[in-house]
Amino acid sequence: IKKIAVMTSGGDAPGMNAAIRSVVRACAYYRVSCVGIYRGYEGLIEGDFIELTARSVNNIINKGGTILKSARSKEFRTKEGRAKAYEHLKENDIEAMVVIGGDGSFTGAVIFNEEYKFPVIGIPGTIDNDIFGTTHTLGYDTALNTAVEAIDKIRDTASSHNRLFFVEVMGRDAGFIALNAGVGAGAEEILIPEEDLGLDRMLESLKKSRRTGKSSSIVVVAEGDKSGKNVYELAKYVEENLPEYDVRVSVLGHMQRGGSPSCFDRVLASRLGVKSVELLLDGKTNLMVGLKNNEVISTSIAEAIKGGHSINQELLRVSDIMTT
Ligand code: F6P
Repeated sequence: IKKIAVMTSGGDAPGMNAAIRSVVRACAYYRVSCVGIYRGYEGLIEGDFIELTARSVNNIINKGGTILKSARSKEFRTKEGRAKAYEHLKENDIEAMVVIGGDGSFTGAVIFNEEYKFPVIGIPGTIDNDIFGTTHTLGYDTALNTAVEAIDKIRDTASSHNRLFFVEVMGRDAGFIALNAGVGAGAEEILIPEEDLGLDRMLESLKKSRRTGKSSSIVVVAEGDKSGKNVYELAKYVEENLPEYDVRVSVLGHMQRGGSPSCFDRVLASRLGVKSVELLLDGKTNLMVGLKNNEVISTSIAEAIKGGHSINQELLRVSDIMTT
């Protein structure tokens, strides 16, 4: 292989730039050319490429977002779109590709590989941490820290006014951010998509808090929570059932995707970037690199997409005990 392309695709995540840097520098180390593809599969379809040398990625390890920009491409879901993409790769003598993204981006990579036998390696980059085959996705650790910092601030005002706050965090269909940020920020209750704890339980817990002398509380709600109510409806429900509570809602939103990556995410990105290039140079394809027991491993991309995710039951139990 003489030329490798790298792209970021799907929702951006802190650490993507560090991963781009790592792929580019590993290519330079092994004397392979590297091309950046702008805006994920959209840029691939349009042939929006840039030559990247070791010096092109100076001073980006600490930057949030992605210098290559990102997109969720509808056109790449069509055969015609993928055909255009393949033409651009061929025209530019690109022989393999590293895709930094989440499961949507990996699904595209698998289909593309099936159709054109084009070598591809995935690096899991999403704040949601919802990918099988790695204990951590890029950006998850930073997003957790961002969420905890924001909830700490909400706690200050909640406690000054004796209020109950419902804080919605991101995670799409996964409760990793909610559960971990909730435990880390000392939330009273944590509502996640994986477990329906029931609304009665929440009311009971809040009643008990009042009885036992808590004057303010924080309930962390994952955006994909399965209680059947969104965060505003949950707040209304509690207001109606427990009028003694002064309730407010705060939706953290996209601020969780921004900011300088944590040291953990930078190190992870550096390790995964190198591994992805080494796998391609080793003739491997259709693999996703990831972390398990602090070792860099690889899983078939198809398995990573299908594998699903499970929530840490021990952490749920800890959260429960903490509300005593
Ligand atoms: O996958 C990352 C994520 O931030 C999810 O947590 C969230 O559900 C989604 O992306 C939001 O997508 P968009 O930025 O396209 O609104």
